[in-house]
Amino acid sequence: MKAYVIQNGTYQLVDTPEQQPKGRQVLVHLKTAGLNHRDLNIKDRVGSKAEPYILGSDGAGVIEKTGDEASRLEIGEEVIINPSLNWYDNTEAPPEDFQIVGVPFNGTFAEKILISEDFVERKPTHLNGKEAGVFALSALTGYRALFTQGKIKEGETLFIPGVGGGVTSFIIQMAKAFGARVITTSRDSDKLKQSEKLGYDRGIVTDEDWKIALADEQIDLVIESIGGATFNKSLDVLKKGGRIVTFGSSTNDEFTFNLRSFFYGQYKLIGSTMGSREELHELIPFVEEHNIKPLLDKGYPLDDIDTAFTHLESQKQVGKIYIHM
Ligand SMILES: NC(=O)c1ccc[n+]([C@@H]2O[C@H](COP(=O)([O-])OP(=O)(O)OC[C@H]3O[C@@H](n4cnc5c(N)ncnc54)[C@H](OP(=O)(O)O)[C@@H]3O)[C@@H](O)[C@H]2O)c1
Repeated sequence: MKAYVIQNGTYQLVDTPEQQPKGRQVLVHLKTAGLNHRDLNIKDRVGSKAEPYILGSDGAGVIEKTGDEASRLEIGEEVIINPSLNWYDNTEAPPEDFQIVGVPFNGTFAEKILISEDFVERKPTHLNGKEAGVFALSALTGYRALFTQGKIKEGETLFIPGVGGGVTSFIIQMAKAFGARVITTSRDSDKLKQSEKLGYDRGIVTDEDWKIALADEQIDLVIESIGGATFNKSLDVLKKGGRIVTFGSSTNDEFTFNLRSFFYGQYKLIGSTMGSREELHELIPFVEEHNIKPLLDKGYPLDDIDTAFTHLESQKQVGKIYIHM
């Protein structure tokens, strides 16, 4: 089978032997896979190891074979991959053996994936194959950040910078479905316009002075994933005593912030990452009920995955970039 790997520090499409499911494993014939920001950083983590690692965390397809002890899913069922491995219950933090699908565990940028039946779920009924292929990582991360960690309440105002992000686009839709007011930003006014269908209440351009632009708002919760470039500006618009959840740092991990202003403001800073299987089981009926779908940007064949990576790096996308096998 064809697979996109990192090996000896180089990304390449290779032919690799197909494996057979044993015990509670299933073999999923993948139809689509979704790109995530994480895929861009794999080179820094793996370096130039000689062992090939298959990239990709999100995917959807059909159960092709099942191991002799697998019983949750039938051959031919349409499924999605749960990229959050070994995290079953909604605990305060992931367990020690938590891993994400796609390096070092074999990923979804391949024609097939061998995985425990525990981390495969029936495709949400309202999603088509492409939407299902880009769904799980972003939606699950967003669900935990918004509900478990952010504890959003109906009627509260959420400020979430970076409308173009894969996770942010889910959070905006989920927060609106839950009855919150949502304000977002983008560096690109066209992106704001194209993203209006997510249903946000107010969008401002990143370059604006947020304190002035949002002087008439009371922000209860901020969800920050851009990092150093915007964290202090985000904190500046949060109401005193408000919550700020962070799950990403697309710009930089390290920056300074004013501790005195922070403790005087009695803010609450909360970290979040991915989500548990228990949360995924809450998320799927929630998105089905509210018809929440990912925004799709552009699709590429597996043979042209390098172009998909270049597109992801360009940050021109509005919504998720996907691969079809
Ligand atoms: N912890 C986890 O479990 C987890 C899971 C998923 C993602 N993440 C992390 O979360 C972050 C977002 O992920 P994603 O997949 O949603 O990323 P993405 O699709 O790459 O989106 C990044 C967003 O950040 C904004 N942005 C980027 N650079 C900026 C800058 N210099 N100034 C202002 N805005 C900027 C962009 O907004 P505009 O283009 O609209 O301005 C874009 O929408 C990444 O750091 C990713 O690694 C973490």
